[in-house]
Amino acid sequence: MVDKNVVRRGYDGLAETYATERDPDDREGELLEGLLERLPESGRLLDVGCGQGEPVLECLTDEPQLETLGIDLSREQLRFAREATAGVSLARGDMTALPVETNAFDAVTAFHSVIHVPKDDHQAVIDEFARVLRPDGFVLMTEGTNDWQGTNPDWLESGVEMQWHIAGAERTREQLRNAGFDICDEWLVGDELADEDAHWTVFLARLKDY
Ligand SMILES: C[S@@+](CC[C@H](N)C(=O)[O-])C[C@H]1O[C@@H](n2cnc3c(N)ncnc32)[C@H](O)[C@@H]1O
Repeated sequence: MVDKNVVRRGYDGLAETYATERDPDDREGELLEGLLERLPESGRLLDVGCGQGEPVLECLTDEPQLETLGIDLSREQLRFAREATAGVSLARGDMTALPVETNAFDAVTAFHSVIHVPKDDHQAVIDEFARVLRPDGFVLMTEGTNDWQGTNPDWLESGVEMQWHIAGAERTREQLRNAGFDICDEWLVGDELADEDAHWTVFLARLKDY
């Protein structure tokens, strides 16, 4: 079972290592650009599990017309994000109960973050994305392609423990539909921080306007 305190303390403890290991990823940048093209000019975007601002918030410092909020569980990750992003609002919070109003955003992004939440809470997280989005709003999120859970006592050779709970693409597809999303597209992407054969599925889904 994933312990959120282990994940939070883990990112607090290895934020400096994460800063050196997390490089810009061209594919993620392209997918983000594709999302931005679909948003209204002065739309609002919420980046959930924003980490240090890569890949979303840093890119959005060039889009001042978009109002952007980054949320993360880890104070240290947010401290790095504050240094890397200007004019972007940041808040500490847990994605299972997002500290934001209902019906308020045109897009939610969540790169490599839902995978740290206990699997039993993934549906609640995706329901939260639906709650905070306006009808017709988009979510762009990463999930592991295959179901997996595990822990690494020395992730990135930082001496710090990290835990993952990956629901897999099939279950995530189902959870997006349960929450009222239509899936617009899916892509397989590699992972610079994991094994060469690790693949993520990135989902672009749109909230139905009933
Ligand atoms: C692998 S990092 C990804 C950061 C960034 N999105 C990226 O792609 O580099 C995962 C992030 O999710 C955050 N996180 C983990 N569980 C969370 C939760 N329950 N609520 C909010 N953020 C969470 C972590 O603190 C960490 O910064």
